[in-house]
Amino acid sequence: MKKILITGGAGFIGSHVVRRFIKNYPDYEIINLDKLTYAGNLLNLTDVSGSRNYKFIKGDITDVEFINELFQLEKPDAVIHLAAESHVDRSISNPMEFVMTNVIGTVSLLNAAKECWKGNYANHRFYHVSTDEVYGTLGETGLFTEATAYDPHSPYSASKASSDHFVRAYHDTYGLDVVISNCSNNYGSCHFPEKLIPLAINNIRNNQPVPVYGKGENVRDWLWVEDHASAIDTIFHQAVSGETYNIGGHNEWKNIDLIRLLCNIMDQKLGRSAGESAALITYVTDRAGHDLRYAIDSTKLQNELGWTPSLQFEEGLSKTVDWYLENEEWLENVTSGHYQDYYRQQYEYNEL
Ligand code: NAD
Ligand code: TYD
Repeated sequence: MKKILITGGAGFIGSHVVRRFIKNYPDYEIINLDKLTYAGNLLNLTDVSGSRNYKFIKGDITDVEFINELFQLEKPDAVIHLAAESHVDRSISNPMEFVMTNVIGTVSLLNAAKECWKGNYANHRFYHVSTDEVYGTLGETGLFTEATAYDPHSPYSASKASSDHFVRAYHDTYGLDVVISNCSNNYGSCHFPEKLIPLAINNIRNNQPVPVYGKGENVRDWLWVEDHASAIDTIFHQAVSGETYNIGGHNEWKNIDLIRLLCNIMDQKLGRSAGESAALITYVTDRAGHDLRYAIDSTKLQNELGWTPSLQFEEGLSKTVDWYLENEEWLENVTSGHYQDYYRQQYEYNEL
């Protein structure tokens, strides 16, 4: 019997990881620790929340006393740490929150794990889920490997880079068993509509302008979220302590090309005439410090641990659009209230 503490399990990726572990490992006890910020949503887990091997705890990873008590009480065998502030645009307007959650929160968990597991580090594991954005930006060519030097540009990526360094420091200094993965952009169901793909789906659905930053030339490497969850499963169970793995889909898209493809898919699904959705595309002021291109070399993960992505992008995007169109209530729920204030502040004044 293994007890696994998953942080941020009510968020986008975390909910897919929680579901996968509940279903694939019925002999594990899964504890989901989440503060339920605007991005955390227990509706993401309604299909599995009644499972015998699942427990939800509401709590803040930056609350050092609470985290220490939780470790002493639950004595988890392992941690899979996903809780974070995750949106670059929010990090530009409120960097301090990112330092608190992503840096202080991670160190608070590492410290509690260090104390709780003292004398027996070999039988415990701290898995830190990170991002390819720590590597900074690529030019027209090249790929991020695990050896690429860190060069973060946004407050979000700087805070994730800092947390990665702390995780490695706890391995090198105290001997904690840690693993880190750095993944490219994810897409799929339960993605909060502040990120490009779900925001665009929601706006197209509502016949609202689809904001494209700058000229739409920036490139991202998109991976289906369930493939990320399967990579996390593989790495959690098979990785050597202290190692880092890049996760990616070999699936680079310029933002504008991706949005055009999405518009075509939505025209078909909504019974609109060709080009109707694309007419909503609106170029807006570029993001400050906008990284030009991310692209992942995941050879190490594929060669050493045998992981490969399962889904082609066009199929994944089509499935994702279906999910949002079938779950309008979920969308209505998360876009009411504070979302409207966020949207107004982020987009009202910057149309080009
Ligand atoms: P998300 O914003 O959807 O979810 C984050 C979750 O963390 C939410 O449920 C939120 O309530 C919780 N949380 C936030 N602050 C907390 C705190 N102080 N205490 C406890 N819980 C807290 O994020 P996501 O997209 O699911 O990303 C999950 C992880 O994966 C993050 O660490 C992110 O950096 C990383 N990542 C994301 C992507 C991506 O494309 N979304 C890609 C690579 C890596
Ligand atoms: P996003 O989904 O925020 O992920 P990240 O910044 O972590 O890569 O953005 C993906 C790309 O889409 C990025 O280049 C910024 C761009 N973008 C837009 O053009 N318009 C938008 O409204 C948003 C949210 C993002």
